[in-house]
Amino acid sequence: MRVFVTGAAGFMGSFLVPQLIQAGHHVVGLCRSDAGAEALVRAGAEVVRGDVNDLYHLRTAAQSSDGIIHTAFHHDFANIKQSSENDRKVIETLGAVVKGSDRPLVVTSGTGLVRSKSGGIALETDPHLTSDEFPRGATEEASDALIDSGAHVVVVRLPQVHDDQKQGRISLHVDLALKKGWVAYVADGANRVPAVHVSDAAQLFRLALERGEAGAHYHAVAEEGIAMREVAEAIGDGLRLPVKSIPPDAALEYFGAIAQLATIDLAASGAFTRQKLAWIPSGPGLLTDLRNMRHRENSRSDRT
Ligand SMILES: NC(=O)c1ccc[n+]([C@@H]2O[C@H](COP(=O)([O-])OP(=O)(O)OC[C@H]3O[C@@H](n4cnc5c(N)ncnc54)[C@H](OP(=O)(O)O)[C@@H]3O)[C@@H](O)[C@H]2O)c1
Repeated sequence: MRVFVTGAAGFMGSFLVPQLIQAGHHVVGLCRSDAGAEALVRAGAEVVRGDVNDLYHLRTAAQSSDGIIHTAFHHDFANIKQSSENDRKVIETLGAVVKGSDRPLVVTSGTGLVRSKSGGIALETDPHLTSDEFPRGATEEASDALIDSGAHVVVVRLPQVHDDQKQGRISLHVDLALKKGWVAYVADGANRVPAVHVSDAAQLFRLALERGEAGAHYHAVAEEGIAMREVAEAIGDGLRLPVKSIPPDAALEYFGAIAQLATIDLAASGAFTRQKLAWIPSGPGLLTDLRNMRHRENSRSDRT
């Protein structure tokens, strides 16, 4: 399949592109930087340079593909509304390209947008937040509209994606700990974060492209929920910094733009996804990767 991938040089994209190529697909990757383009060429992909928000260029680049995987997103938590509304337009544009055909469009969302109907772990079939409740709901709303119109859209929702170098939002917790000199978790720290190793997530994107059902929502969840207290302790161990509980009303002061995410329980299930796509995640867990990352940082600082 000729697969157009946005965000091809990003964290997710840089694992997804080789995964697709190894499976025999031809990848056309959208990216902005010279470094990204060079990495994509090295991986064996064709490169299209450009901004995902240049919708005319995006449409033209996506037109000749047999399938699309959209992972690009501008992660500016302080301007999340603008980024999310831009994403809505990008999804509408890519949707217009595949509409009326059986070409799949795989859209990337997050398990953090799903709220459990039962108050427990968020399932693939649970409702998502609207964009009024949380701006990134725009990604899901744009996907819903395309699904309703009959387009072959598949939504892959990511939990915390990690390897031993990057931890997505958890990297921001590490940065905050380094800046403040201590690690915080909120209240008893029992609120959880779900996780997946980046290589497992890449495999799931490929399966969603190849065999995902039109209109399906899949959760790339390998670990349903790791308590934020454990995450904080792993960060504290690695950085040799004290770990403290803070009350919920102090979360904004410590965590700033990610205060809400640091406070709520985000546990999510991937059981339906595993069963439907025969997906078997096998990568290391979040705490293992966090500890491995810390060891390297410590040994670097020990040398200086
Ligand atoms: N990582 C996680 O833990 C996680 C969790 C939940 C959901 N997600 C979602 O998964 C997707 C992939 O995340 P990621 O971790 O791979 O993020 P990432 O490393 O920040 O990659 C995002 C990619 O989007 C590209 N991009 C951003 N704005 C663009 C623009 N205007 N034009 C063209 N490209 C643009 C970036 O290009 P440049 O390289 O040029 O900057 C980058 O390659 C995103 O939708 C993200 O919100 C990720």
